[in-house]
Amino acid sequence: MTPLPTSHLTPVPTPAPAPLLSVDDLVVQYRRPGAEPTRAVAGVSLEVRAGEVVGLVGESGCGKSTLARAVCGLTAPKEGTIAFEGAPVGPLGVRRRDPGLTRVQMVFQDPYGSLNPRRRIGAQIADGIRAAAARGDAADGATPGDLLTRVGLSADDAARYPQEFSGGQRQRIAIARALAARPRLLVGDEPISALDASAQSQVATLMRLLAVESGAGLLFISHDLSVVRLIADRIAVMYLGRIVETGPTAEVWANPRHPYTRALLAAIPQPDGAGLLPAELPGDVPDPAAPPSGCRFHPRCPVAFDGCDREDPQLVAGGVACRLYAA
Ligand SMILES: Nc1ncnc2c1ncn2[C@@H]1O[C@H](COP(=O)(O)OP(=O)(O)OP(=O)(O)O)[C@@H](O)[C@H]1O
Ligand SMILES: [Mg+2]
Repeated sequence: MTPLPTSHLTPVPTPAPAPLLSVDDLVVQYRRPGAEPTRAVAGVSLEVRAGEVVGLVGESGCGKSTLARAVCGLTAPKEGTIAFEGAPVGPLGVRRRDPGLTRVQMVFQDPYGSLNPRRRIGAQIADGIRAAAARGDAADGATPGDLLTRVGLSADDAARYPQEFSGGQRQRIAIARALAARPRLLVGDEPISALDASAQSQVATLMRLLAVESGAGLLFISHDLSVVRLIADRIAVMYLGRIVETGPTAEVWANPRHPYTRALLAAIPQPDGAGLLPAELPGDVPDPAAPPSGCRFHPRCPVAFDGCDREDPQLVAGGVACRLYAA
């Protein structure tokens, strides 16, 4: 049979696939008795697409871990939404974690605290394989030994205990355990900061490789901007509970726009080891329980001008939240 002519058909535009992770206006608040609530995440919107590595950077205390924990369903948002592959996710507490949330796996900072010292590493990796099976994902037949090989260890290591490994090796084991659950999104919260310099870029590059190879997204939190530059496709700069700038890594590096981003980039560790945090910025990150009025960055901003203490700039389409760039 001759195929019907198709020229009369109007092409139907293919909708862009929903981002893997879509965070919209998220607020996460901590309450302490007798104190003002702390809005550690104060209205964050962020997307991570499949196969994309997003680097989240910012000084200590700006809310990176809080955002990561909310994304993983470990901390309840006060406002805003978190959607995963288009469907909203809600926190259910650690014990009653939605099995679907095993699609998001986290690798934590402390390679000594994140593995159970009393169980063989093979058994801990097998937990992840079972988690993927429990949510009905087709098994890919990978064994704990296969996963250990993928992270650069040996299949025989499955029978050993965590304390028999170095910090860098433990992070590789933690990555193998996370990958075992066949995550769609991998979240690394400072996964390299406890490692020595040579292990840092190796582990970061490995996370990128394995995430991208499996079509997953990676949200990578680090204060090491040189590593973020190495592995991230896109960067999100966080300051006091907000994203102040976001964009493709190369573009942000070539043309940082927010004064805070500029200060951060200027503070990349020098070859002589000097400088990690924005040295030229006065003061510390303010207390998020009492954020400054207007732009949260204005008291430390070298280029603040009239009105910055009153007007709170929002992140605009161009990817920067600063009145210097207001339309
Ligand atoms: N469980 C908690 N209870 C009360 N306040 C908290 C809690 N966890 C974090 N905070 C506060 O929330 C703010 C953000 O903390 P968070 O750990 O998210 O920052 P961070 O960017 O991950 O910092 P770091 O780079 O040091 O890891 C900080 O002011 C912190 O003191
Ligand atoms: Mg943290």
